[in-house]
Amino acid sequence: MAESITITDNRTGEQLEIPITNGGVDAAEWRKLLPGVWFHDPGLATTSGTESAITELDGDNGILRYRGYPIEQLAQQSTFLEVAYLLINGELPDRAQHDAWVDDITHHTYLHEKFRKRMYDAFHYDAHPMGLLTSGVAGLSTFYPDAKDIEDPDNRMHQIIRLIAKMPTFAASAFRHSEGQPFVFPDNTLDYPSNFLQMMFEVGNPYEIDPALRKAMELLLILHADHEQNCSTTAARVVGSAHADPYTSVAAACAALYGPRHGGANEAVLNMLDSIESYSNVDDFIKSVKAGEGRLIGFGHRVYKNYDPRAALIKEAAHEVFAVTGKNPHLDIALKLEEAALNDEYFISRKLYPNVDFYSGLIYQSMGFPIEMFTVLFAIGRTPGWLAHWDEMLAQDSRIARPRQLFTGNEERSYVPMSER
Ligand code: CMC
Repeated sequence: MAESITITDNRTGEQLEIPITNGGVDAAEWRKLLPGVWFHDPGLATTSGTESAITELDGDNGILRYRGYPIEQLAQQSTFLEVAYLLINGELPDRAQHDAWVDDITHHTYLHEKFRKRMYDAFHYDAHPMGLLTSGVAGLSTFYPDAKDIEDPDNRMHQIIRLIAKMPTFAASAFRHSEGQPFVFPDNTLDYPSNFLQMMFEVGNPYEIDPALRKAMELLLILHADHEQNCSTTAARVVGSAHADPYTSVAAACAALYGPRHGGANEAVLNMLDSIESYSNVDDFIKSVKAGEGRLIGFGHRVYKNYDPRAALIKEAAHEVFAVTGKNPHLDIALKLEEAALNDEYFISRKLYPNVDFYSGLIYQSMGFPIEMFTVLFAIGRTPGWLAHWDEMLAQDSRIARPRQLFTGNEERSYVPMSER
C-alpha cells in the first residue's frame, strides 16, 4: 500500500497525492492545492512544527527515550550532566568529553555579584521564585550581549554551558531571597545536584548531603530533562525562531512552564492534596472532578494515553526518600486518589493516568523544598532540553514561527465618532 494520502478539492475536482514521511504529511504540498485554506488546530494538537532527533515519546505505549536511550536506563545508570551532554550533542560522551563538559559547567556556576544582588533586591520578599527565575534568565541577555551571535555553533555551545551552569545558582538565590537568608556561593568541588542542595539548604554549619536525597535530586533532574515539543519548549522555539538570544528564548520557556497546566502542576498538586485534607474526602473529591468542578491535577497528558513512565520512576524513588525523611503526610491521599481514578470509568475512558507532576511534589516537599520552588526545580531539569531544541532548530534551516488564523470578526465598517455611539 502506498505511504501517501490523496486530497481532493471538491470545488474543482483537483487532486493531489502527498507522501507520508516520518509519520507526517508536508503542509507545503497541501498549500499547492489549497492556497489560503488553513489547518485549524487550536493547541497545535495535530500539527508537527519540526523534525527532531532528540526525544522520542510514544504516548500510547508509555515510552520515553532521549536520543534512543530508554528513560529507565538513563534514570538508573546516568547522571544529569551526562544526560544534558547526550541531549545537546546527540551521543553519550567518552571519558575525556565527559570530564571536559562537567569541568566547563562546574566553572560557570557563578553569577556576577552586582547583577545577582541588584536584581534580587528589586523583588519583594514574597515574590514567587518562578518570577525571579524568569526575570533573571531574561536579564542575562543584557549581561552577555555576545549571545546574540546565534549563527555560530561554538558561540551557541558557550551560552548553553553558561545557562545550564547558572540555573541552580539562580534558583537557590531566589529561595534564599524569599527566606531572607544570606546567599550561599556555589562550591565548585561538588557535583551538580550536591552543589544545588548545598546552595539551597546550608545554614551556618557545614551542610551534610544525604546520599539518598542527592540521588533523588539527580533522578528528578534526569526525568525532567526533555519532553520533546511541550508548551515551554515550543515557547523557546517560537521566540528563538525570531533569532532572539538563548537567554531571552529560555526566559520565554520559563514563563510558559510557570503555568499550572504545565510545570506549575507540581505546585498545584500539593495545593490540591492540602485542600482535600484527609483520606476520607477522596471519594467526594473524585465526584467533584467528574462533575466538572475542577481537574485532578497531576493526571492526564496531551501525549501520554498510558502511565507516564516518569511517574512510575518517581513513585518508586519516593519510598527511598521517605525512608530518610519520614513518610510525606500527603502520600496516603495521593495513593488513594490514584487508585480511585485508575478504577473509575471517567478516567479510564479518557485515558487519564498520573503524569510526572503527581508524585514529584511529594518528594520535593519531603526534601525540604517549599511548594513555590517546585516549578523552579522542573526548570533546572528542563534547561538542557530547551537548549537542545533551540540549538537543533538553529542548526536546521528553520523559518520564523508565524501561524495563520481563521478570521471571525467584523467585516469592514466605518468609525463612529464618540458623540454618535
Ligand atoms: N482531571 C479531570 N479531567 C481531565 C483531566 C484531569 N486532570 N485532564 C483531562 N481531563 C478530561 C477533560 O475534561 C476532557 O474531558 P471531556 O472530553 O469530557 O471534555 C478530556 O479529559 C480531554 O482533556 P483535554 O483538556 O482535551 O486534554 P489536553 O490534552 O488538552 O490537556 C492537560 C492535557 C495535561 C492540560 C490536562 O490533562 C490537564 O489539565 N491535567 C491537569 C494538569 C496537569 O497535571 N498538568 C501537567 C501535565 S504533565 C507535565 C507538564 O506538561 O508539565
